[in-house]
Amino acid sequence: MRAICPGSFDPVTHGHLDIIDRARHLFGDVVVAVGRNSSKNYLFSPDERQAMLAEACAGRDGVAVVPLDGLLVDFCREHACDVIVKGLRFAGDFEFELQMAQMNRSLTGIDTVLLPAAPRWASLSSTIIREVASWGGDVSEFVPATVNTLIKAKIARRKEEGS
Ligand code: PNS
Repeated sequence: MRAICPGSFDPVTHGHLDIIDRARHLFGDVVVAVGRNSSKNYLFSPDERQAMLAEACAGRDGVAVVPLDGLLVDFCREHACDVIVKGLRFAGDFEFELQMAQMNRSLTGIDTVLLPAAPRWASLSSTIIREVASWGGDVSEFVPATVNTLIKAKIARRKEEGS
C-alpha cells in the first residue's frame, strides 16, 4: 500500500520523522507531501521545507518527498495513495485532524490513520521549535542537524533584516 504523510513541516522535526518511519513500517511505501495550510504564516518557503525534508529522508528507502500544491485528495487520486497518515500529539490535535479526515473521506473516500505520537516527541511542534529558536534557545535535540543549522541561519537573517 502507498501511504501519504502530508504536512507543513516548518521545519521538519524528529516527531514528524517518527511518524514517517512508522507509516513506512505499516504500509510499505510512503509519500511525504509538503503542503500549505492557507491559515498559516511560514518561516521557510515551500522549496526550503521540501529541501530540508528531502535531506532528512535521504537514507530512508521507500520514502519519497514531493511538493503538494492544491487539494490533498486530488494529489492522492493522481498519485494512487491509499491512505493518509498523520500524527496525533494531544487532544487538541484531534478536533482539527478529525474534521480534515472526515472531509477528505467525504470528498474521495480516502481514509486517514491517526498515529499517536511517541511520548518522547509528544510535546513537540514546529511552532514551538520556531519560537524557542527565535529567542536563541537550543533546539538541536528535536530536529535533524541540518535543520538546526538552517533555522539558526534563517533567524539570524531575519534579525538582520529587522523582521
Ligand atoms: O502540518 P499541517 O499544517 O497540519 O499540515 C496541514 C496540511 C498541509 C496537511 C493541510 O493543510 C492540507 O492538507 N493542505 C492541502 C490543501 C487541502 O487539501 N486542504 C483541505 C484539507 S481538509
